[in-house]
Amino acid sequence: MAGTQATQPRDGGPRIIVALDFPDPGAALELAGRLPTTHCRLKVGKELFTRGGPQLVRALVDGGHDVFLDLKFHDIPNTVAGACRAASDLGVWMVNVHAGGGPAMLAAAREALPPGGPLLIAVTVLTSLDERQLQAVGVDASPEAQVLRLATLTRDAGLDGVVCSAREASLLRQAFGPGFCLVTPGVRPAGAQRDDQQRVMTPGDAIRAGADYLVVGRPVTKSDNPEGVLLTLESEISSVLAD
Ligand code: C5P
Repeated sequence: MAGTQATQPRDGGPRIIVALDFPDPGAALELAGRLPTTHCRLKVGKELFTRGGPQLVRALVDGGHDVFLDLKFHDIPNTVAGACRAASDLGVWMVNVHAGGGPAMLAAAREALPPGGPLLIAVTVLTSLDERQLQAVGVDASPEAQVLRLATLTRDAGLDGVVCSAREASLLRQAFGPGFCLVTPGVRPAGAQRDDQQRVMTPGDAIRAGADYLVVGRPVTKSDNPEGVLLTLESEISSVLAD
């Protein structure tokens, strides 16, 4: 399709990452058991990790799932490097840090991960931070300018990409080209409930904007037919990529 900025993720695997936002590790494992590893990856965030721990992550990895460990490490370089090594030892597919930790922290995270280890992604500006919130913590730049600044630091430190809203994907794809990985939440199938997301995009539009991986939570996890939702999302993505 004309104007499409989509790129192929480097491994050609599934582009959908299901956010396992469950307070109960048992429920997370049960859903994971129903989701084909060939059609999605899984994201484990702070709540589930704090409840389920490394053994939950290991169980998902042992079940053949690619796991995005979404713990957004942000600390002194030595500590973040150790946390990244621990994530790598768990066998996760992707791990992330806060770009706001600065160039030395980003470099330490990069160096800590072995070649062929997890993809290393940075969070730039949380979408919960608007201009006023940024000013309150001493950032006078607009959220967009700050995203670009932190994404540039991320790229310069040799990380694999950033988490960004689908609305930022197009700008970042233009700025950084096809090799930089864009992971975008806030994705909803056409006509689906938005939940608490203010601005959403359909999977097709997010891929057209340049996203590599789409994080989708509740449309899959709250569905009576999660496998069916996954297949619908996937066929929308495939039809955009085939255009
Ligand atoms: O259920 P839903 O699809 O809204 O879940 C989106 C997931 O992506 C959640 O795990 C949420 O924490 C995460 N996320 C987000 N917006 C961001 C960053 C992460 O929705 N800016």
